[in-house]
Amino acid sequence: MGKTIDHKGFKVMDISKQRVLTGVKPTDLPHIGNYIGAIRPAIELTKKAEDSFLFIADYHALNILRDPKELKEYSYQVAAAWLALGLDPDKTVFYRQSDVPEIFEITTLLSSVAPKGLMNRAHAYKAAIDKNKELGNTGQDLDKGINMGLYTYPILMAADILSVKSTLIPVGKDQVQHVEMTRDIAGTFNHIFGEVFLLPEFYVQEKTELLPGIDGRKMSKSYNNHIPLFMDSKKRRKLIMKIMTDSKLPEEAKNPDDSLIYQLFCHFGTDDAKQEMRAGFEQGGMGYGDAKQMLFEAIESHLKEPSERYVELMSDKKNIDALLLKGAEQARAVATETLRNARVAVGL
Ligand code: ADP
Ligand code: TRP
Repeated sequence: MGKTIDHKGFKVMDISKQRVLTGVKPTDLPHIGNYIGAIRPAIELTKKAEDSFLFIADYHALNILRDPKELKEYSYQVAAAWLALGLDPDKTVFYRQSDVPEIFEITTLLSSVAPKGLMNRAHAYKAAIDKNKELGNTGQDLDKGINMGLYTYPILMAADILSVKSTLIPVGKDQVQHVEMTRDIAGTFNHIFGEVFLLPEFYVQEKTELLPGIDGRKMSKSYNNHIPLFMDSKKRRKLIMKIMTDSKLPEEAKNPDDSLIYQLFCHFGTDDAKQEMRAGFEQGGMGYGDAKQMLFEAIESHLKEPSERYVELMSDKKNIDALLLKGAEQARAVATETLRNARVAVGL
């Protein structure tokens, strides 16, 4: 693995030597928090890496979704969103997980060595158990409503990562445990059967802040306080006008750092405009209505081109299919080799 040491003796990644991979669950349309916190940094990382793989994790989504039309549509929408936001399919291998069957055979091979106890400790499973406890369930009912897909989720994720020999996995903090489990499972397999799998490292962007939602809590689909990336302008304006504020009058001085409008504006406004809003808040004279209008216009202008590309991409789904299938062929070329080695190693 291409690692070097910096002047203070810390481990530093040489990203230009890494194969970066990440997966996106198509369970909803991304919002501006996902964009700033995950999509944009991941795309930037793909530009610095030696090569990169990005896939639509549709089998992961199947643990949650139950409407086939929804799964199909979200897969297109998420693919179109990443492409519209700058993912270059000529540089990044871009595919649907379900188009790479080798991943699923590797999942089975890994299941034979993955400790059940490890699955019991996975955050997503533990959170589901805690929810059942809160509902007053006990004994066997603690597993109520939990499917095996959720329970074995970390094994499928390990197969995603190991199949294409990726070395660096950009993830949000909540997914770090899954990458650590991937290392555990791959390490156990290699220990028993010989060196088949490359052990990956996770990569968490430390400095990206969490964007607040329109009610001040972390922007999240689960709180329904999010601003979607691609939506009708009038609806977006309405949503932005709902951002929570205190009741200070326009002429009163306000602390910009306490304002949700200003916090969001920092990610979309130009430097001059940010300065203007900051000064207007500090000195008084900047009303919340005007600030919200500035925020609306900045988001619209930032997302104008991606939105147009998104609409164009969504109008030709056959083109998206063709792009993803081409990516799947490239991913399969690597995954087939990994699978062959793993099969031979275990004696199949
Ligand atoms: P949600 O909370 O809306 O369900 P996800 O859990 O699907 O979002 O998050 C996908 C990725 O987007 C995560 O890896 C996380 O790093 C990033 N992300 C989510 N919400 C925010 C936010 N409010 N600000 C910055 N990044 C975010
Ligand atoms: N579990 C990830 C999430 O919920 C999505 C994902 C699936 C993934 N397979 C992956 C991320 C492999 C990185 C690598 O966001």
